[in-house]
Amino acid sequence: MKKDKEIINRFSKLSKSQKIEKITNYFDDKKEIKNQLQSFWHKDLNIQKLFDDFSENTISNFFLPYSVAPNLLINQQIYHIPMVIEESSVVAAAGNSAKFWSTRGGFHTRIISTTKEGQVHFIWKGDGDKLRQHMPAIKKRLIKNSEFITANMQKRGGGIMDIELIDFTNQIDDYYQLKATFETVDSMGANFINSCLEEFANELGFYIEANTDFSESEKGVHIIMSILSNYTPNCAVECYVECDISEFETIDNRLTAEEFVWKFEKAVQIAKVDVYRATTHNKGIFNGIDAVALATGNDFRAIEACGHAYACRNGKYESLTDIKIENGKFRYSLVIPMAMGTIGGLTSLHPLAKRSLELLDNPNAEKLMEIAAAAGLANNFGAIRTLITKGIQWGHMKMHLSNILNSFDATEDEKRQVLEHFKTEKVSFNSASTVIKELRN
Ligand code: MEV
Repeated sequence: MKKDKEIINRFSKLSKSQKIEKITNYFDDKKEIKNQLQSFWHKDLNIQKLFDDFSENTISNFFLPYSVAPNLLINQQIYHIPMVIEESSVVAAAGNSAKFWSTRGGFHTRIISTTKEGQVHFIWKGDGDKLRQHMPAIKKRLIKNSEFITANMQKRGGGIMDIELIDFTNQIDDYYQLKATFETVDSMGANFINSCLEEFANELGFYIEANTDFSESEKGVHIIMSILSNYTPNCAVECYVECDISEFETIDNRLTAEEFVWKFEKAVQIAKVDVYRATTHNKGIFNGIDAVALATGNDFRAIEACGHAYACRNGKYESLTDIKIENGKFRYSLVIPMAMGTIGGLTSLHPLAKRSLELLDNPNAEKLMEIAAAAGLANNFGAIRTLITKGIQWGHMKMHLSNILNSFDATEDEKRQVLEHFKTEKVSFNSASTVIKELRN
């Protein structure tokens, strides 16, 4: 029954059991939901405490499948890719593509660049040319006075690469940015970048305050905010697959190799020109990338946001992949920016994220970007291959069949009989429920 919700004051200050008490009050089956929440707690209390501490107001854990897409050949090395995802066909699609490409040279990857940006956004009423003239001195001071933050990162080969002044006064009165470029090596770098930026903001104010070149009316710098940008077009990776067109001769018994390649090319061209298709096309890429990001404790929201912004870099949203058919060769590629980390954050705290990285031979951030890009391209290739041949519902519904069976609480024997039936039949929710009902009758 729907129960009206009241404001819960100081919820975060309540103990875990008090929080559970408050929330389960909204349910009719209070005792049952309480047991259910507790049944998902980890039996090792130390591990549960770790999970509780990842977030605020934690009352239980939310399970997702942890799967492995085997045999992805990347730069001539085999990887078994850990993937965390709920969508039933994603891991199967990655696995199928991995198998297909494993005998055709595999996935080729290369890092294009690895720097990231952050900005101090500020309002300043003054002579822009004068500020520009002072930038070399300001930059020097900002870098020098942030050394207490950057020392360790510098030892690891990273740090602040540049700081520039961006004049936005033609769009918002008196609005400028300090736009800084960072190398964060194997960490995603959010904390490092944000700490540096907040320091820059303070130092900028001090510099202008103390410098006699600036008049009294120019002294006040209004810092609006200091924050990294999740748009990281200069932290990007390329991944491609390539083979002779004749390699597609046996990919599907409905199409010749030439027909397959022709349809594939059209599918990619459509995703270049139509935003509705491009969004779904790119979603298929992120099926693979997000699953690897989650399995390795990376921030998949940052990676998604960046990828979609990058897909608009030419003025309209389009496919992130490109195709080239030339001289009897098929080349299919993905260029994608992503801020991945293999140290810091959840990567070493989450016990399974740590294990995922171990399974991938403890890659550095660059290698993990390459692996995730290959998983993304594998998933997208698998999706297009299915779409232009047997259609998506064929495989999707087959994979979904076990969810449907579980929703009917099917016994093992019922499952076996239903699976047998659908070996040759098209699956739909209705057809599956009819077969179960017939069996039960
Ligand atoms: C489903 O999760 C992903 C696809 O829709 C991607 C695509 O259409 O390219 C199959």
